[in-house]
Amino acid sequence: MTDARPERRPAGPAEEGEGWWRHAVIYQVYVRSFADGNGDGIGDLAGIRARLPHLASLGVDAVWLTPFYTSPMADGGYDVADYRSVDPLFGDLAQFDALVADAHGAGLRIIVDIVPNHSSDEHTWFRQALAAPPGSPERARYLFRDGRGPDGSEPPNDWESVFGGPAWTRVTEADGRPGQWYLHLFDSKQPDFDWRNPEVRAEFADILRFWLDRGVDGFRIDVAHGLFKHPDLPDTGTKRSGMLDTSARPYWDQEEVHEVYREWRRILDSYPGQRIGVAEAWLPDTARLLRYLRPDELHQAFNFAFLTADWSAAAFLEVIDSTLATFDGHDSLPSWVLSNHDVTRHVTRYGGGEAGLRRARAAAMIMLALPGSAYVYQGEELGLEEVTDLPEDLLQDPTWERSGRTDRGRDGCRVPLPWAGHEPPYAFGPSAWLPAPPTWRAHTVDAQHGDADSVLNLYRTALRLRREFRHARRLRWLDAPDNVLDYATDSGLACTANMGTEPVEVIARGELLLASRPVERHGDRVVLAPDTAVWWRQ
Ligand code: NOJ
Ligand code: CA
Repeated sequence: MTDARPERRPAGPAEEGEGWWRHAVIYQVYVRSFADGNGDGIGDLAGIRARLPHLASLGVDAVWLTPFYTSPMADGGYDVADYRSVDPLFGDLAQFDALVADAHGAGLRIIVDIVPNHSSDEHTWFRQALAAPPGSPERARYLFRDGRGPDGSEPPNDWESVFGGPAWTRVTEADGRPGQWYLHLFDSKQPDFDWRNPEVRAEFADILRFWLDRGVDGFRIDVAHGLFKHPDLPDTGTKRSGMLDTSARPYWDQEEVHEVYREWRRILDSYPGQRIGVAEAWLPDTARLLRYLRPDELHQAFNFAFLTADWSAAAFLEVIDSTLATFDGHDSLPSWVLSNHDVTRHVTRYGGGEAGLRRARAAAMIMLALPGSAYVYQGEELGLEEVTDLPEDLLQDPTWERSGRTDRGRDGCRVPLPWAGHEPPYAFGPSAWLPAPPTWRAHTVDAQHGDADSVLNLYRTALRLRREFRHARRLRWLDAPDNVLDYATDSGLACTANMGTEPVEVIARGELLLASRPVERHGDRVVLAPDTAVWWRQ
């Protein structure tokens, strides 16, 4: 396969020496909601292909595609039934190959999502496991156990699903009687693999090669800290508190997982062109995260610290400082994330409306000036808010049902993107699987394209300027008034942000390059209104 396709791999300035991912800006495409190419109201590969010019003109380095594999879509595709295929909803392998070729031609790398912790219950292996008896090799690919209590009617332990409810589901055996239980840390349609089974390991090594042969530049590894469960499956004795609960558990961050990433690294390194692995690992302790980034393991891990930080200089300073302290003396650089498909969009987290948008503009500038790489979640470059009033009968996130309809889940950040026009679905396609609000008419790509003050153009300019300064490795804090974040990087870019509620006057740190909203200048002083960030060339 590789032989048939010419190696056409983007080689930007960041390619030289250091490794392209270290300073890259990676754009997250949530495939179902990016662009609909075939008119069925669901985003697909053809839609992404047609909209590549948007990503190229935005100025990102790479695109991460959320799962597009064959799936019953019980968890938006994070329930994979066939890891080596494209779900017909999204296209086919030929479309995928064409997308990779076009993306590479446009200077964009492609990262795909790999989901190794669990499959779909509709995966052939799981169907075989259900048909086979307890103790069979078919069951041994997953975590089947007998229940507790005299008749086995209690789950094997007290683990809870991340989406709510018990992490175990009981099956009916071939003779019609209630039987064993299987573990699913997420939805009951997402059975967890047993990673101590060598067959599972061999299968995933092969799946990685399948996609690497098709030219992907790397993998975003779903629940990278999951995979191995403590062999005794001990009770935790504590309750979980939702998606963002990162407490230590006997199913997270077990030592054996590192041997898998060492093997994966050898596979990645056996391909030309710097293919990478990115860990999605929600860990309470960032020092533990670094263990995934040892030189013979993964290249990068998401740093989710901003996702739980309020809009305040103190909170942002703490996130930046503690992250950089963790990475101090380490060869790899941090990544930064303001939003993704699992959390409330940051415009809304920062208060929503005009203020939320002002803050989101400033936050983007704060993030994009930091040393390391940054992830941009589709729609943040348009200043989109969370859609909080989706009709209940349209909600699809399994969290909604599993929480007993108390947690609306993540659909509000997954509403299809607005591209053009004045009416929903704003040229996403002829229809859309979730409705966009009327306010999005001002947020379409088309509406923002020619407006110099739009969020879209702020991102474009920031990403263009960032290239000049992208090799930053260090940051120093500058003396700043209260509620002001003020730092300079060793690549000559400085950022000042007024995160308070009063205007502040600051001394210019150099040539003013960019402001998130208009500023007043008085000689060598500049007045920043509340919620304003500026960049300086030092
Ligand atoms: C993390 C993914 O980001 C999320 O969307 C998914 O529900 C879980 N992993 C389970 O695969
Ligand atoms: Ca479609």
